[in-house]
Amino acid sequence: MVAVSASAPGKIILFGEHAVVYGQPAIAAPLTAVQVTVTAEPGPPGGGLVIHAAALGQTVAAAQVAPDSPLFNALVYPAQLLLEHLRAPMPDLRLTVRSTIPVASGLGSGAALATAIMRALAAALGARLPDDALNPLVYEAEKRHHGTPSGIDNTVIVYARPVYFVRGTAPQTFAVARPFTLFVADSGQSSPTRLTVADVRRLHDADPPRLDALFARIGEIARAARQSIETGDLDSLGPLMNENHALLRELTVSSELLDRLCQVAREAGARGAKLSGGGRGGTIIALVDEADAAPVTAALRQAGAVRVLSTHIEQSP
Ligand code: MEV
Repeated sequence: MVAVSASAPGKIILFGEHAVVYGQPAIAAPLTAVQVTVTAEPGPPGGGLVIHAAALGQTVAAAQVAPDSPLFNALVYPAQLLLEHLRAPMPDLRLTVRSTIPVASGLGSGAALATAIMRALAAALGARLPDDALNPLVYEAEKRHHGTPSGIDNTVIVYARPVYFVRGTAPQTFAVARPFTLFVADSGQSSPTRLTVADVRRLHDADPPRLDALFARIGEIARAARQSIETGDLDSLGPLMNENHALLRELTVSSELLDRLCQVAREAGARGAKLSGGGRGGTIIALVDEADAAPVTAALRQAGAVRVLSTHIEQSP
């Protein structure tokens, strides 16, 4: 066997995070500027599965990782799920994991890691792994990280295309009448999604009618945003992002830095801005016309963003 590689992109949530856990629609897109790549090579006979996480400088033997450790959840559990799915024994392989997706940044690093590990293992074992079979397996891996994931992260990352997503239903694609560019600014503050999802759950359980009303309004925004994208009405998209951000603040998942990044992006010319993903840290996204790209980037950097990427949502053919 020769070495085989597989990769998976990051993701951004355009509208609807958190409310999507409670059945409201959300919109997400892949972020191909960041990727996880996993290379599988033959290992010594009887050596089992060895995983080298290049970024952590750690090499672990899958059979020896404690099942309650974060390394197990991130690296070993996805491999185990895939081997169970293929009914394959533990192979003698060495996996090398490289990632440019910052961890706990709202960019889907966990789902991308699981996706790339499963794809690389399947390729190394010569097994077919269609996206429709892979997606539920990555969802299972996500449950270990988040407890109650909606399924949007695994779906957008596995299929690598923009999706309109409602929990428990098949992901829908949608038309893009006019292309647009989103800037993605990383606050540099890591914030595990599991924690914000659990806090929103506590808020919900303390006052279900108030939280359900907030989720319902976020759902209306996601529906309106889909229509704006489908009709090319970019003028309404920015204000919808701003309103979604305000509602995420009410869910307590924003932070001073995320608010400031959104504010400076708007002041520098962005049509709208909001946090993206789990919140409290991680990233914000901003809808930016080309003419405003340089001032928005400068303002975000000045306000503390450690990295500014952009992604282009292409017009439908
Ligand atoms: C995380 O990318 C999105 C959340 O809505 C959680 C989920 O949908 O599982 C915060």
